Amino acid sequence: ERGGFEHFMMKEIHEQPTAIKNTINSLVTNGKVDLSKFEMDEETIKSISAITIVACGSAWHVGMAAQYVIEDIAGIPVRVELASEFRYRGPLLSENHLVIVVSQSGETADTLAALREAKERGVKTLAIVNVVGSSIAREADYVIYTVAGPEISVATTKAYSCQLVVTYLLALEFAAVRGKIEKDLYDKYMAEISRIPECIQKILDDKERLQWFAAKIANSKDIFFIGRGIDYAIGLEGSLKMKEISYIHSEAYAAGELKHGTISLIENGTLVIGLLCQDNLYEKTISNMVECKSRGAYLMGLAPYGRYEIEDTADFVTYVPKMDKHFVGSLEVVPLQLLGYYVSVARGLDVDKPRNLAKSVTVE
Ligand code: M6R
Repeated sequence: ERGGFEHFMMKEIHEQPTAIKNTINSLVTNGKVDLSKFEMDEETIKSISAITIVACGSAWHVGMAAQYVIEDIAGIPVRVELASEFRYRGPLLSENHLVIVVSQSGETADTLAALREAKERGVKTLAIVNVVGSSIAREADYVIYTVAGPEISVATTKAYSCQLVVTYLLALEFAAVRGKIEKDLYDKYMAEISRIPECIQKILDDKERLQWFAAKIANSKDIFFIGRGIDYAIGLEGSLKMKEISYIHSEAYAAGELKHGTISLIENGTLVIGLLCQDNLYEKTISNMVECKSRGAYLMGLAPYGRYEIEDTADFVTYVPKMDKHFVGSLEVVPLQLLGYYVSVARGLDVDKPRNLAKSVTVE
């Protein structure tokens, strides 16, 4: 049942190329997002004045990355909120607000309650869900299914990746309907999105070095993931993967925030993982890595192929294929999933069923 893999998590990591392909195929016809698939009409899309993305855990991290993509490509203001906060905050929602909830299980108690709160306030709701017929899927006004297939491991991988890709397609289509994108650019972005599965496959084919590195860092006390923009959003997910299944304390920081307090935690040998896939922010994050190094940090860098100069700064480097900055997060997250997995295995832990956690959190 684990398809030859030792754990469901590894099986699901390897299913990502297919899961993403299936998700894209379910929404795209002849190189265009097919709106009829989720029944949102053009008038509704044109009327959206703001988007709030609401979710928990990794699904919230999807929102954290998606906000950059949707704002940049579709020009719609996006706010991202934890469902457990949103539901009790009395959020201000305008009539033309769209609330997007993201959930693998479709049963997460806080996300469901947030969805109900939004509906009560009379705004439109769209759910991105993996489990067909789940409560969230049934109650939202519009539903887009990720086609990830059943996810067994508590730590999400393929559902997260499919959710992220759905947000890219939404950004593209919202941009197109609202006249915010030229056809050439739309086609170019679509071609990039279509490359994601094969690029992830390349990363998976090259995973042994990460296993080696994981064994080396398996006794770390703390790990810090630093990056800016989408790199930061991916760092949040990488950090959650690490702490969830390896029980190593880890945190993700927007790299520029380090010097506002957290850098005092860096000591000799502290592992800092610098995420460097946003081209325009590369130099900035490198300079934060150098600051950590001068305080004794041990540095891992994650960058696109071609950025070989990073080897002058980082002690260990992993590369991912080059891709447009909006979508490269889908590649960048994969080595971090693998790293979390390998560290958990190296520590002899129960990868698929980490302590104190359930696959679906149906109580608040
Ligand atoms: O089923 P959901 O997507 O609503 O679940 C949300 C979170 O509980 C979930 O993403 C959790 O953070 C994962 N275990 C992380 O790997």
